[in-house]
Amino acid sequence: MAPLPNLLALPLLLLATFCHTPSMCHVSPAAARAQQDSTKTSTYRTYIVLVEPQPLSANEEACRQWHESFLPSLHIADSGEPRLLHSYSEVFSGFAARFTDDELSAVAKKPGFVRAFPSRTLQLTTTHTPEFLGLREGTGFWSNAGYGKGVIVGMLDTGIYAAHPSFDDHGIPPPPAKWKGSCGAVRCNNKLIGAKTVIGGDSGDPDGHGTHTSSTAAGNFVTGASYNGLAAGTASGIAPGAHIAMYKVCSPSGCEDADIVAGIDAAIKDGVDVLSISISANPGDHFDQDAVAVGAFTAVSKGIIVVSSAGNRGPFPQSVANDAPWLLTVAAGSVDRSFYAEVLLGNGRGIGGETLTQVGKPSSKPYPLFYPADRRFCENMDSAAIAGKVVVCVSLAAAFQDVNIRRIMASGAAGMVLFNTESRGYTVDLVDYNSSVIQVAAADGVVLTDYAMSAASSAIASFTYSNTLLGVRPAPAVASFSSRGPSHVSPGVLKPDILAPGLNILGAFPPSTDYGTGPFSIMSGTSTATPHVSGVAALIKSLHPDWSPAAIKSAILTTSDAVNRTGGPILNEKYGEAGAYDRGAGHVNPARAADPGLVYDLGITDYASFICSLLGQDGLKTIARDSSLTCAKLPKVKAAQLNYPTITVPQTRSPFTVKRTVTNVGPAASTYKAKVDAPRSLRVRVSPDTLVFTRTGEKKTFSVSVSCHGAARHRVVEGSLSWVSEEHVVRSPIVAAVAS
Ligand SMILES: *[C@@H]1O[C@H](CO)[C@@H](O)[C@H](O)[C@H]1NC(C)=O
Ligand SMILES: *[C@@H]1O[C@H](CO)[C@@H](O)[C@H](O)[C@H]1NC(C)=O
Repeated sequence: MAPLPNLLALPLLLLATFCHTPSMCHVSPAAARAQQDSTKTSTYRTYIVLVEPQPLSANEEACRQWHESFLPSLHIADSGEPRLLHSYSEVFSGFAARFTDDELSAVAKKPGFVRAFPSRTLQLTTTHTPEFLGLREGTGFWSNAGYGKGVIVGMLDTGIYAAHPSFDDHGIPPPPAKWKGSCGAVRCNNKLIGAKTVIGGDSGDPDGHGTHTSSTAAGNFVTGASYNGLAAGTASGIAPGAHIAMYKVCSPSGCEDADIVAGIDAAIKDGVDVLSISISANPGDHFDQDAVAVGAFTAVSKGIIVVSSAGNRGPFPQSVANDAPWLLTVAAGSVDRSFYAEVLLGNGRGIGGETLTQVGKPSSKPYPLFYPADRRFCENMDSAAIAGKVVVCVSLAAAFQDVNIRRIMASGAAGMVLFNTESRGYTVDLVDYNSSVIQVAAADGVVLTDYAMSAASSAIASFTYSNTLLGVRPAPAVASFSSRGPSHVSPGVLKPDILAPGLNILGAFPPSTDYGTGPFSIMSGTSTATPHVSGVAALIKSLHPDWSPAAIKSAILTTSDAVNRTGGPILNEKYGEAGAYDRGAGHVNPARAADPGLVYDLGITDYASFICSLLGQDGLKTIARDSSLTCAKLPKVKAAQLNYPTITVPQTRSPFTVKRTVTNVGPAASTYKAKVDAPRSLRVRVSPDTLVFTRTGEKKTFSVSVSCHGAARHRVVEGSLSWVSEEHVVRSPIVAAVAS
């Protein structure tokens, strides 16, 4: 899989109103190109500079001139490159430009200067999945929702391969009149309605990541799709009727803070409805130092729902990124599909594995099995020792092992079996080695190595291939790499929010990049889970254009599946029961999300009140562009009391009480009864325990008191509260956690 965008924290600050019209006053492609080549002029660095809003600069030109007035010169003397990279206006008042340290000191003395931060570079973090999510062409909810008709999904990513059939516009009407975006040099149509680069060059996709994520969110139907015959079928995004706008903010080498902010700035101005960000910040970044959190706050205040990846730093606790409560944070799970291959051992035992290189002719020829116990990672193997053998190794991340594996196969090995490390468990994250390399789970590695050691030189194995199997169980299981809660900076809001398919996902791909060739490719990561949920958000937005971002999030969370198709628990990568910090509220269920019955709504002042409690006025000033939001005028709202659709409380013996308010978005006359599921050690009281609604839009407030008793020896105890009517179940997980 291609490296995933991984966004660096953005320490920024700021404020207020000005430059009302455009969001990006100015971008210099030449300067942006220069910025990518940072080694050449290493004494110059890119800084994000925050400045006081200038009341006169109400238009693009005046805004740019105000920003230019801070520069020692418009061009760098030695190279002639422009200094100014971006002028921002939507997300905050400021710009990105290149200075030496000495020059920056001079800039800092100018009137109107507020603060400067170096912009950091971070590394970069479907045929069957609609069906797995219960969406079938021509039927039910999917077609009722017009497949996301009229909704604009903005993607922040590595660019897009516009000529891909996934971005054909058959059946798609023109974009709504509010759309202000454009496509530059690229061929645009009613599907791909925007393609902008903020990093210079064109909006093409030299990586493949952005093409893949875009097709998952809103790619059109493409018949006869497959990856070398695997995962064959009709490919489509989750919202195949929606429009796509690409904002290229990442190069294959990474994504810069300054560019991410510029991308969000442009998307807000152009008028997207959904923003899909498969780029993840560092876990533990405060929200006022995190470009996605800051940019998303302004986007959410304009009614844009922002969906972002939890990150690929699992399975370790507190690894979740993009954890601000105004983001919809997505974890990655498996689907019920396997690219199956079996390893048959000489002792008759068969081990089920997977490979992306399926051999056409079935061969059951046995080869000697060789496990170099002293070189478990297959490093520095002697080619004479491996020729004609099946070599068994521990699987590492492709970046560390790719070269070794290709070398071993090139020196005449008959095949390889790579088994997962303990921590990866059952998550088989496939890499195409274009040869007989089969990947298996950690538990199977034990079987394999036990046999290899005991049978020694008489150990043999053969491979058989089954192409694509569907209906594989258990599914879904949380992928090992998917980042886990609790949030480092705000543990009182459950993160991640939701689980979606993110393991071995088929998506559109450019014809040729360093990471593979199209037209389709198979990738894994929370990057691939995120656009599934962006697509679901687009479907809901199409049916309910007036719903707030928080209402759409609530709908997705409270209707998610807590169990798998056959009623068993959703599992983690070790096939133990997944917890809320692994999977959030549950596995996304699009059809039910469109009709949640009740929603837990939140507005921008609620988030602002939460920021006041967490970070104070300085933090709020940095994050909120709207200067009318000030902590002096707002209550301080602690995380537990935010009207979030999940409930997180500290573990206490005396009852800890939270209040929640639900809004009726279902039938006017409905009665809901509270139903609590909790282990005996968790006592939950809901008051009142019946909610009677007589009209749509009506709000009802209730309280939930939680106390922990007896043998609550676990750091986290989980239960749930469901509001149940004749037609709806509105479920919120309850998480009682030991304060850390
Ligand atoms: C994969 O291997 C086959 C031969 O086994 C070769 O013809 C083909 O070009 C290879 N594909 C890639 C992408 O390397
Ligand atoms: C559901 O979970 C149970 C328990 O883990 C498992 O036995 C079953 O196979 C799963 N069903 C599906 C459809 O994955």
